[in-house]
Amino acid sequence: MKRIVILISGRGSNMQAIVERCAEEAWPAEVVAVLSNRPDAAGLAWAAARGIATAVVDHKAFARREDFDAAMVRAIDVHRPDLLLLAGFMRILGADAVERYAGRFLNIHPSLLPAFPGLHTHRRALEAGCQVVGATVHFVTPQLDHGPIVMQAAVPVHPGDDEHALAARVLKSEHVIYPLAVRWFCEGALELGADGRVRHRGGASQVLI
Ligand code: GRF
Repeated sequence: MKRIVILISGRGSNMQAIVERCAEEAWPAEVVAVLSNRPDAAGLAWAAARGIATAVVDHKAFARREDFDAAMVRAIDVHRPDLLLLAGFMRILGADAVERYAGRFLNIHPSLLPAFPGLHTHRRALEAGCQVVGATVHFVTPQLDHGPIVMQAAVPVHPGDDEHALAARVLKSEHVIYPLAVRWFCEGALELGADGRVRHRGGASQVLI
């Protein structure tokens, strides 16, 4: 059984989707802990109510970024993760912390990377006149919202969309591709090639359209 630790900062809907799919589809995996940098993250109560260990490492309690990272690493390592997931975690971890989990660390970002890394992706996509947007699951590297792509979902922009409408449509796709990518990792179906590309060993499509 793969041990999954999930880092959140807010509502945690991607975390919930992963916990639910993991149980429903009997993955060879268990979400053993949900950690947050914010004490008020709504997803913490949801996880705790399901008997999942939760903890808060409040970034405001640390003057130096390295000290926050070190505390977060300690909180993560207590749970001996085989897989670490960022799911709406709004702090940037330093390179040392990221490299500690190299090859077993995934993130979801609400854009078709490498377009629109960082914040306000939906607003920026609308301003740019994009007709298609999406979401990306990728391995985490020290560079923000960058790293080998595991799966992407394409989502159409509709006339009259504002950023909230678009974010809601993209989020539905996130809840499909993130659990699927995590399942693949837990089943050992993902292969990270020497060329830096991620492939599904069985040839499953890594795009949702
Ligand atoms: C999602 O859009 C995710 O892609 C981004 O932050 C949002 C988190 O939402 N990184 P939730 O907390 O999973 O509901």
